[in-house]
Amino acid sequence: MNADAQRSPASADQPWTVGRVIDWTTGHLKKHGSETPRLDAEILLAHARSCPRIQLYTHYDEVLDDKTRGVMRELVTRRARAEPVAYLVGHREFYGLDFRVTPNVLIPRPDTETLVLELLTLAADIECPRILELCTGSGCIAVSAAVNLNDVQIVATDIDNDALNIAVENAKAHAAGAKITFRQGDLFDALEGDQAFDFVVANPPYVPDEELEELDADVRDHEPRLALAGGDDGLDVTRRILSGAGDRLKSGGYLLLEIGAEQGNVVTELLEATGAYGEIRIVTDLARRPRVAVAKRI
Ligand SMILES: C[S@@+](CC[C@H](N)C(=O)[O-])C[C@H]1O[C@@H](n2cnc3c(N)ncnc32)[C@H](O)[C@@H]1O
Repeated sequence: MNADAQRSPASADQPWTVGRVIDWTTGHLKKHGSETPRLDAEILLAHARSCPRIQLYTHYDEVLDDKTRGVMRELVTRRARAEPVAYLVGHREFYGLDFRVTPNVLIPRPDTETLVLELLTLAADIECPRILELCTGSGCIAVSAAVNLNDVQIVATDIDNDALNIAVENAKAHAAGAKITFRQGDLFDALEGDQAFDFVVANPPYVPDEELEELDADVRDHEPRLALAGGDDGLDVTRRILSGAGDRLKSGGYLLLEIGAEQGNVVTELLEATGAYGEIRIVTDLARRPRVAVAKRI
């Protein structure tokens, strides 16, 4: 797909069909370290052709026009430099919904669906639950809750205004704007007066400082540091949330926090030490990795 490939004698007379571009791009991205080169190639080409990915299979022999090839060349060059596919195409699926993403927000992860599932299960037993989501980023947690719960009131906050703007867009796109109030600020400072909630939920930044440089280049070089960096042991923001949430939760309300896979024991100890919570448990994901700390306000 690059100039060299197009000039090489072996390939000079072969047209750049959908199938050939996918194969070439897959090999190229594999060489540049992508762990999902075929999927990346298909998503990028579907974006360049403005078509659903499934359509690539029914147009395998179609020859790309010059404009599409130009767009694809640019996308592949950027992906080879480890730019995440979700930022290149501007969206990512989460909990069955499509979310707009930009480099101002963390790309929603399947890991976080564990938290949403737990929240929806607990909220099903409460009439018109009031939910506070701290650290909302793209808004994926708040919007998924709003779409899946009939009567619900949600306050979603983030310290970063650019992230909040994306969350507001996502809420509008899913007709969830009326159920969610967005507020900018540092954790609980974003709230008004004495608001109390049935749930406080968050996926805070929780990567220990010394692990930041070991992250995959996609994450390390492109996703917002503010969304990742959790201080020395990764728990700076988590500690502040679990000590502050007690004042914002109704008695019997729940705190749900996404945690790193190694943080289950220490977060359990921190929760116990507050004396404010009972029924503390760690929920694991499908791969049995600790994912969410759940605690009930006494
Ligand atoms: C790990 S991301 C989570 C984004 C989204 N909720 C998700 O699950 O994909 C953490 C978010 O916390 C925000 N954040 C970091 N420190 C914060 C603070 N002190 N107060 C409020 N938000 C904060 C970041 O801007 C970022 O959007």
